Amino acid sequence: MASGHGSEDPASFAASQLGCKEHWDKVYDGEMANFKSSGEIGEIWFGEDVAMKMVDWVCDNISDTNARILDVGCGNGHLLMELASNGYTNLTGTDYSPQAIELARNVNGGADSNHGIQFEVQDFLDAQDIARVAGSDRFDVVLDKGTYDAICLKPQDAAGGPAVDQAAISIYPRSVAASLKDTGVFLITSCNWTEDELVERFRDQLVCVGKVKHPSFRFGGAVGQTVTTLAFGKPRDLTLSAFGMSPAT
Ligand SMILES: C[S@@+](CC[C@H](N)C(=O)[O-])C[C@H]1O[C@@H](n2cnc3c(N)ncnc32)[C@H](O)[C@@H]1O
Repeated sequence: MASGHGSEDPASFAASQLGCKEHWDKVYDGEMANFKSSGEIGEIWFGEDVAMKMVDWVCDNISDTNARILDVGCGNGHLLMELASNGYTNLTGTDYSPQAIELARNVNGGADSNHGIQFEVQDFLDAQDIARVAGSDRFDVVLDKGTYDAICLKPQDAAGGPAVDQAAISIYPRSVAASLKDTGVFLITSCNWTEDELVERFRDQLVCVGKVKHPSFRFGGAVGQTVTTLAFGKPRDLTLSAFGMSPAT
């Protein structure tokens, strides 16, 4: 999903269409048409193995199958469908693209069943939308696969240009914190940010409590990873041992 580092801030990327709602509306329009004609559910970002690592992390660490789980920027809803088939019953998927939500509802058995999953349109940068979906209860788990990456590519200027919307980038961690219970956990997979960068970007709201291992590659003597998955919790209420995991650093 990377679109090239911007010149002003070496730790940011140039804005791209991947950060624009119109782009995603068009993508999911196409995927809906494809689903109707072929039954294909559409793109699984970062591939099935990465999705299953997130599902496995939830299964290994969240023993309460009634835990309230949100997948933010859920796309076609495949992550929640896997969790439902692993026995989780209190699942919500949201996306700011109504076309994504229509696709997710259809992929997940049609509006009447949805495997018990609630799908709703929600802009995760809108405080009122955050409060409406989270309710007073809020979530035990918030999942993100590729959504923060997309938000970090949102153009500052609707007319285009390489500058990213820094306000949007800084709102996102606050949206996560506002959606989570005090004992909740946030599991994020990113292909654009390293462990250190994610820890830094969420540090005002959240503390890293663990990581999921992905296969690494070696290039020119340096070892790298194509994706990073980290778990975060709220600072006062989570301890590393609560998840039986080691620090990410
Ligand atoms: C790279 S796709 C990932 C989709 C899905 N999570 C997956 O793994 O297949 C990014 C998703 O984030 C959604 N998105 C981007 N900005 C958003 C926002 N402000 N609020 C809610 N969803 C957003 C897009 O519509 C898109 O579905």
